[in-house]
Amino acid sequence: MTHPATTAATAPQGVSLTLDGVTYRYGRGHAGLGPLSLQVNAGEFLCVVGPSGSGKSTLLSLLAGFLRPQVGEIRLGETAVRGPDPRLTLVQQEAALFPWRTVAGNVAFGLERQRLPRAGRDARVEDTLRLVGLGGYGPRRVHELSGGQRQRVSLARALAVQPQLLLLDEPFSALDDRTRTALSDELLGIWWSQKVTVVFVTHNLEEALALGQRVVALRGGEVVLDGAARELNVGRLRETLEG
Ligand SMILES: Nc1ncnc2c1ncn2[C@@H]1O[C@H](COP(=O)(O)OP(=O)(O)OP(=O)(O)O)[C@@H](O)[C@H]1O
Ligand SMILES: [Mg+2]
Repeated sequence: MTHPATTAATAPQGVSLTLDGVTYRYGRGHAGLGPLSLQVNAGEFLCVVGPSGSGKSTLLSLLAGFLRPQVGEIRLGETAVRGPDPRLTLVQQEAALFPWRTVAGNVAFGLERQRLPRAGRDARVEDTLRLVGLGGYGPRRVHELSGGQRQRVSLARALAVQPQLLLLDEPFSALDDRTRTALSDELLGIWWSQKVTVVFVTHNLEEALALGQRVVALRGGEVVLDGAARELNVGRLRETLEG
């Protein structure tokens, strides 16, 4: 897959991610996450699997700076994460788009804080829409789109700001198999061309093994398996998660 030159030439590359003894509890005696230590290399594609309630979304909320760990530290590169960080973006499970904005208006959202000149911003929006297979859809209204197209807009919005870390929380779980496969292929192409670091959360073990270079399995808020995708299989993952 080719990448539009205007975006690729200037895009910053992936950043490394470190979790150092991180613990988060929602309340006294409540579940949460940790203690958890994890190192993700710059440009790595990590998939996180685990049953419902195992802490996957809590992990992404901590990485995105929406939650602060009570113990431990999270670092992007050398810098501690202490709140929302412009170097990363999060794509949530349900595409949360602004219904009163056009497709282009939604994709431009994060760029408005970057003070790009208007022409540069418009070009970036169109490039990113093309990247997710929605070239020419800019003027459309969000309610005219299918679920898969909305998910693409959501992905485009996250990519338009050229993040160094892309966090995805079960982004394709509501889609049919064909759309999921097509979007997965696009995501791999984008990862490959932009060298962005990716943390991809999914329930789907086959999806994790197909997409990730590395798979981390969570159970009860702790890492129970961490390995190279090519050395794992669904049976082994299932056994570990159920065991
Ligand atoms: N806002 C909250 N208040 C209290 N407890 C919460 C809150 N959010 C999550 N939890 C608890 O923290 C634990 C981890 O939840 P989390 O949402 O991270 O799981 P998950 O792995 O993303 O699950 P799913 O696959 O269902 O999305 C669960 O036991 C959950 O009940
Ligand atoms: Mg979740």
